[in-house]
Amino acid sequence: MAQEDVFKKIVSHCKEYGFVFPSSEIYDGLAAVYDYGQMGVELKNNIKRYWWDSMTLLHENIVGIDSAIFMHPTIWKASGHVDAFNDPLIDNRDSKKRYRADVLIEDCIAKMDEKIDKEVEKARKRFGEQFDEAMFRATNPRVQEHIAKRDALHARYAKAMNDMDLDELRQIIIDNEIVCPISGTKNWTDVRQFNLMFSTEMGSTADGAMKVYLRPETAQGIFVNFLNVQKTGRMRIPFGIAQIGKAFRNEIVARQFIFRMREFEQMEMQFFVRPGEELQWFAKWKEIRLRWHKALGLGDEKYRFHDHEKLAHYANAATDIEFEMPFGFKEVEGIHSRTNFDLGNHEKYSGKKIQYFDPELKESYTPYVIETSIGVDRMFLSVMAAAYAEENLDGGETRVVLRLPAALAPVKAAVLPLVRKDGLPEKAEEIIRMLRYDYRCQYDEKDSIGKRYRRQDAIGTPYCITVDHQTLEDNTVTLRDRDSMEQTRVAIADLKSLIGEKVSFSKLLQKIAED
Ligand code: GAP
Repeated sequence: MAQEDVFKKIVSHCKEYGFVFPSSEIYDGLAAVYDYGQMGVELKNNIKRYWWDSMTLLHENIVGIDSAIFMHPTIWKASGHVDAFNDPLIDNRDSKKRYRADVLIEDCIAKMDEKIDKEVEKARKRFGEQFDEAMFRATNPRVQEHIAKRDALHARYAKAMNDMDLDELRQIIIDNEIVCPISGTKNWTDVRQFNLMFSTEMGSTADGAMKVYLRPETAQGIFVNFLNVQKTGRMRIPFGIAQIGKAFRNEIVARQFIFRMREFEQMEMQFFVRPGEELQWFAKWKEIRLRWHKALGLGDEKYRFHDHEKLAHYANAATDIEFEMPFGFKEVEGIHSRTNFDLGNHEKYSGKKIQYFDPELKESYTPYVIETSIGVDRMFLSVMAAAYAEENLDGGETRVVLRLPAALAPVKAAVLPLVRKDGLPEKAEEIIRMLRYDYRCQYDEKDSIGKRYRRQDAIGTPYCITVDHQTLEDNTVTLRDRDSMEQTRVAIADLKSLIGEKVSFSKLLQKIAED
């Protein structure tokens, strides 16, 4: 199946089974805003728990906070967001549609890549088994020509972005004859900078309302609380502060479902270190974070680092952890060595001393910071993308199954009475009453047992427990495994530990240390 089709299927599966709904749907939706449904919220909460526990339980020197979304507006001056948190925008005069200039160019580069891939695929068919792709790419004159064109455009684009040369970005669009996807014309305006922060007003107008921003990242709430936490928690460097919360960006090109949203959630951790030790810690956090991802078992080959060539002016190292989505490798998490830029600037703008006295070195300094920043929604999408599978079964049947990491599954066990009589429903309820303090369970008595299994497969429930007439005689049930579909007869008394073995969070956390 084409990857594009897989992605469409995941989006509709998310809606059909209560994971993600378009926001304000009965009013025709609100672009790039989504609601999580009854299944989605459980999966999302489990992802957050996995991250939170890995930070605050596995590291004695990391504590959490929950800062407000509204903050003093000067914070966003100090952080650089008021002046530099911009996207380059261009309008098409005929369609009156607005685009990100960089995205138009990146799409053009992607089309060139597709052209090259098509040539390769054609040759693969022609040459059959002996086909040597690397050799073909390196020697075929047509492919070489396409690659040279593509690389030249990429280099020109990268330079224009690096210099934020807006005229050059427009010229690239003109030179490459990029047309508006709606009007099909090249009638473009100049490229302008557009700030991505949402703003609103606080206080009544009579009192003189103050313009405040909806935070575009949670990190600044950590920086401005650095001294509060350090002093009240008697924290010694190195130490970290973790936070999970909403962030808002007025994204112009909002697409790919929950990958790029206007309201989203971040899980960020700022790790404060001695100046000069930051690059060691940067390397360490790269490793720790990749282990966290890999412990979920979504497939080690689906991850890669993408080191930034162009660094923000305040960073001295930065990398993305990319995950293979159905639309290619994409950033899920950023790891940044942010130097002492943020704390230093907050000291400057607030006029308050923000220094740490190091008892071992017997000196005060502005700590350096390593940041790990991951989007909950992008993590959700990667889990969904890796878990979604369509399978052909014996007998010509098919099933859609979400192979979710068991600890993250919204429902851990479904309890199903074989028939709706003879005391089986009552026995099933009894089992739920026993398990529900530890695991989220679902009761289902409607339709054939096969249909009920399919429903649970579709939401990723690791276990189905079937109660039948034998259960009444010997207190055993069948336990069906989602992935292997194997059924084993087990004692009700053993259910708690058997399920716990597979779905436990502590096992998952231990895996991070083992891998
Ligand atoms: N404090 C650093 C920071 O915010 P970022 O690379 O802009 O860095 C971090 O964002 C992470 O937040 C990204 O890796 C991504 O997972 C998530 N993210 C950013 N913008 C997003 C959006 N519009 N929709 C969904 N997730 C987003």
